[in-house]
Amino acid sequence: MASGHLSREEALACEGCRHACHVMLYCDTDARLFGRKPIKHVILMQMRFDGLLGFPGGFVDPQEETLEAGLTRELSEELGLALPISEEHHVEARYAPASPSSSSSSSSSSSSSSLILHFYVKKLTEEQIREVELAAVSTAADHGHEVLGMVRVPVYALKAGGGLGPFLSHAFIGNARSQLLDSMLRLNLVTPHELHRALAHALS
Ligand code: APR
Ligand code: MG
Ligand code: MG
Repeated sequence: MASGHLSREEALACEGCRHACHVMLYCDTDARLFGRKPIKHVILMQMRFDGLLGFPGGFVDPQEETLEAGLTRELSEELGLALPISEEHHVEARYAPASPSSSSSSSSSSSSSSLILHFYVKKLTEEQIREVELAAVSTAADHGHEVLGMVRVPVYALKAGGGLGPFLSHAFIGNARSQLLDSMLRLNLVTPHELHRALAHALS
């Protein structure tokens, strides 16, 4: 089947396609781990109901709502607050890779239609990130069900080998891992050298 990037418009022109929208929320921080190690950036991911790490968001039906309104709705369910997302935050759309587990676990009649994955990135303040984390456990309808908890990505390497490397060794949903890696590079949250070192650790 086709794979690769689509523009937002091309994606919306696809007849019979299903759409899912997810977002990477992040901020800069002056905080230090153990009072020494600069944490530099906070990136929010979530531990999903299926035991995989992913970004908040979910299925959106463009016949009923815009992609961004649908993503905002998913965020209010999963994060417990209204976080407006607009077209300017849209980073990519691509066909989901065919996955045997997704077809076998779905009994829906539309399971044979192509799924297009939309990815957004939105920068928040550190205070807003804290508000999201608080709301995700206190007011989010999906807490403890679809979402088991929010996690911060360790965007640093520790001398003993901890940090981003071991984090990347976990299991991720869909292309969430490459969305994370691509975004960290594009936004200069890590250098290519730091990322190569983390990936070398993740593979070892
Ligand atoms: N990158 C790529 N694909 C992803 C990502 C991601 N970061 N996160 C999720 N997906 C895929 C999932 O595999 C799923 O097929 O996008 C689809 C929808 O995402 P979810 O967040 O799982 O959807 P949501 O609307 O929140 O619903 C949660 O409820 O109805 C059930 O089984 C259904 O998985 C769905 C669950
Ligand atoms: Mg959801
Ligand atoms: Mg979801």
